[in-house]
Amino acid sequence: MSDDRLPLALVTGGASGMGLATVERLARDGFRVVMVDRAAELVAQEAGRLAAEGLAVEGRVLDLTDEPAVRALVQSLGPITALVNNAGVFDERKFAEVSSDDFRRAYEVNLIAAATLTQEVARTMPEGGRIVNIASRAYLGARNHPHYVASKAAIVGYTRASAMELAPRGILVNAIAPGLIDTPILRALTPERLAAQLALQPTGKAGRPEDIAQAVSFLVSPQTGFITGQVLFVDGGKSLGGSGA
Ligand SMILES: NC(=O)c1ccc[n+]([C@@H]2O[C@H](COP(=O)([O-])OP(=O)(O)OC[C@H]3O[C@@H](n4cnc5c(N)ncnc54)[C@H](O)[C@@H]3O)[C@@H](O)[C@H]2O)c1
Repeated sequence: MSDDRLPLALVTGGASGMGLATVERLARDGFRVVMVDRAAELVAQEAGRLAAEGLAVEGRVLDLTDEPAVRALVQSLGPITALVNNAGVFDERKFAEVSSDDFRRAYEVNLIAAATLTQEVARTMPEGGRIVNIASRAYLGARNHPHYVASKAAIVGYTRASAMELAPRGILVNAIAPGLIDTPILRALTPERLAAQLALQPTGKAGRPEDIAQAVSFLVSPQTGFITGQVLFVDGGKSLGGSGA
């Protein structure tokens, strides 16, 4: 089948970490995938590498907080069957020191950019469409990044709201809550904080980006037709909340 007859998927933050693993997985699943990211060099490198392997992957460089550019991109692409709102920003701030600007930065990407893109994509998304929002296990509560935790709780709320809005059109919207996953975003943690996070893992190790890609693949599959508004924890059991003792 020629590329333009394949169902179209758009993955934000697709040039790195779990977004990149998701781009590759959805392309192998039979989607034509548009990788959107603001990291221009990575987009060129990774989209080029995957396309050279024969996968239907295209890169687009965009800052997702640029609302007119986001709307224009979606309009230029035509109907999107699967949207993965994965791009996110993370940094650590102590509870007593976090600023209103820290909150704004976190919300700007982790919630508002995803909501803007969802709204624009939903205008033309066909029946059977799928939206997956990458939240975080941290939305249940975590120390040292209150702005991030709040923004991820917000995207869970938005997931539930959009699931209600779009269900009558046969479009399913779910969230994935990853636990600790081995990606470049973890560079925001000091070695001590990373060790402390790993110690909380019931499995004793971080997950792989491919673990998240696998969950996305399941949720966007046409075979997965009766799940909407849910949060799927992919966290090696961290959300169980047991003492581990
Ligand atoms: N790695 C973890 O342990 C973990 C745990 C829970 C949730 N998450 C979430 O998973 C998602 C993916 O993170 P990752 O771990 O793969 O990190 P990552 O840093 O490897 O990838 C994030 C990508 O998003 C892009 N991005 C950020 N802001 C953007 C913007 N404004 N416009 C365009 N692109 C932008 C970055 O350039 C980067 O390529 C994020 O939403 C993150 O909050 C990560």
